[in-house]
Amino acid sequence: MEKILALRGRVYPTDLNHMGGVFGGWIMGKMDKSASITVEGLVIGQAATVFVTDLHFKEPVKNGDIFTIYTTVDSIGRTSIRIHVDFHVRRRDTNCECSVVDAIFTFVTVDEAHNKIPVLDVLRHDVEQEIRAMAQEGAKNPRYAKNSEKY
Ligand SMILES: CC(C)(COP(=O)(O)OP(=O)(O)OC[C@H]1O[C@@H](n2cnc3c(N)ncnc32)[C@H](O)[C@@H]1OP(=O)(O)O)[C@@H](O)C(=O)NCCC(=O)NCCS
Repeated sequence: MEKILALRGRVYPTDLNHMGGVFGGWIMGKMDKSASITVEGLVIGQAATVFVTDLHFKEPVKNGDIFTIYTTVDSIGRTSIRIHVDFHVRRRDTNCECSVVDAIFTFVTVDEAHNKIPVLDVLRHDVEQEIRAMAQEGAKNPRYAKNSEKY
């Protein structure tokens, strides 16, 4: 699946905690926004973040780092879309770019009343064939059976 460059920027002193590191919540916020931009490219309407899993802070993010956030559509279920989000930094001193944080963000497609709705009902017409096939396959196989009788 194609890797998308979703967001880019720099870490500034106002993003730091009292110990001089970057707040984990600041990083997660950027990752959530990146994932939601990617989801918006797939569906018309709203999708809410419902789960964040496998969140791994591998290396610290530092003041002055240039960050680039890449997203990949991991899988699509009946009402959910999982996005792998990979937060990279380019250090000012070494100029080398590496992945320092990654996670899976799960979104659920919802209508205006905030009731979950099938992804296929709101999938954009111009999505890649690979994405459409993933959504069609996912619609047949709800990942978590617990609530599947609701559909
Ligand atoms: C979105 C919402 C209406 C979904 O309702 P729900 O009753 O929790 O939905 P379900 O339990 O049936 O699960 C919905 C989807 O999540 C999946 N899911 C359930 N448990 C999961 C888990 N542990 N990890 C990943 N996905 C999971 C289900 O399989 C289903 O996807 P599928 O239809 O593709 O199989 C509700 O969770 C909600 O309003 N949450 C708050 C959202 C929010 O405010 N987010 C913050 C800001 S955007």
